[in-house]
Amino acid sequence: MLQQDLSIVSNKVIAKDTYEMVLEGDLVQQIKRPGQFIHIKIGEGFSHMLRRPFSIADYSLETNQLVIIYKVIGEGSKWLSKQSDQSFINVLGPLGNGFEIDHLANQNVLVVGGGVGVPPLYALTKQLSQRNDVKAVLGYQSSDSVFYEEKFNKYANTTVATNDGSYGEEGFVTDVINQMQNQVDYYFACGPLIMLGAIQLQLRDTQGLLSVEERMGCGVGACFACVCEADNEKGYVKICQDGPVFHSNEVTL
Ligand code: FES
Repeated sequence: MLQQDLSIVSNKVIAKDTYEMVLEGDLVQQIKRPGQFIHIKIGEGFSHMLRRPFSIADYSLETNQLVIIYKVIGEGSKWLSKQSDQSFINVLGPLGNGFEIDHLANQNVLVVGGGVGVPPLYALTKQLSQRNDVKAVLGYQSSDSVFYEEKFNKYANTTVATNDGSYGEEGFVTDVINQMQNQVDYYFACGPLIMLGAIQLQLRDTQGLLSVEERMGCGVGACFACVCEADNEKGYVKICQDGPVFHSNEVTL
């Protein structure tokens, strides 16, 4: 883990209230797996929100660059959206365990993302597709919030669902999964807790990994906002320190 000023290569809108930021610096060399996150120092004068966690959507060890995708929902993310190319932001990371995929080859793999849970699944899908047959189901609120459909389509047979039916299939990601005929050997999911809980139940006979990042607060073990009931001797896990990725049968959502 490093703390470093990374340069902003680009910072642009890719969907409604949704930005893609490309960052460059040596810290990228320490990323081990998709599903890890970084902790960004947000602005000046935000006493309660010095750093915020952001999942890594993509990264390249060759170019020394990583990508985050974030939604503008408050003062901190608004500040981030105003940062211009070639300026620097302070980043701590990479943090978290990420998705373990080395054991998977020649499998039918399902990747399920909802809204801001979609980003960490992109680098994962790229890597999974090298040795597996991957299907992706991505859920969004409506047509104007859809992003990265084409990018996912390069590596996975991708279906988009919107809650209001304004684009792709109408309904939730669970509705799309219900219609799937093919056997799923292994699955990965990231999104709102209610979605993860529904998928955990729907795919209870299938092994999978869940990224429970929605529950994250400080990101460094200090606030206890991320504690989640778990099937271990302690009875709980801290999402930021023990996760954010867990086996589907490990956490109670
Ligand atoms: Fe604060 Fe985990 S997010 S302790």
